[in-house]
Amino acid sequence: MKRTISIKLNGAARSADIDPSDILLDVLREKLGVKSPKIGCERGDCGVCTVIFNGRTVRSCLVLAAEADGGEIVTIEGLGAKGPTPLQQSFIKNNAFQCGFCAPGMVLAATELLEKNPKPDEHEIKEAISGNLCRCTGYEPIVKAIREVADSSPLSHRERAGVRAKSGKGKRR
Ligand code: FES
Ligand code: FES
Repeated sequence: MKRTISIKLNGAARSADIDPSDILLDVLREKLGVKSPKIGCERGDCGVCTVIFNGRTVRSCLVLAAEADGGEIVTIEGLGAKGPTPLQQSFIKNNAFQCGFCAPGMVLAATELLEKNPKPDEHEIKEAISGNLCRCTGYEPIVKAIREVADSSPLSHRERAGVRAKSGKGKRR
């Protein structure tokens, strides 16, 4: 039986009529006109369908559209709505796109990483994008693009914690 879901999609209130078995990826692409989440393996392996759902990246091929009801979704269209983010600019500068099929998922995965850990090391970057496959094997420029943004970031969470510990601030009471 069809039902209507309401979501906040890239900052705008949207709704769609869905079947209980509809997956979020298909609803985004076919009913809501958002094409950046791509159709790849459709079983959670490749990451090209990645979106940010309630603040965390998810593979939209593994999420039922019904589960998204009342939630907030950000895709690459929303991320760059006010102009390319520093990370997107770095991807462009470093030619981190070949066919570009993996790019939306890569950028969203890296965005989540840099929000959690603004200054990741190379291992942490590779770990963060390990679930996003690039069929063009463009990993070197992708990692470099993320690394450049990380390198230009101010102190990492860890370093901030260290500064607070040394200055005696931030102690739990
Ligand atoms: S299409 Fe969703 S992970 Fe591959
Ligand atoms: S640039 Fe083609 S799949 Fe990554």
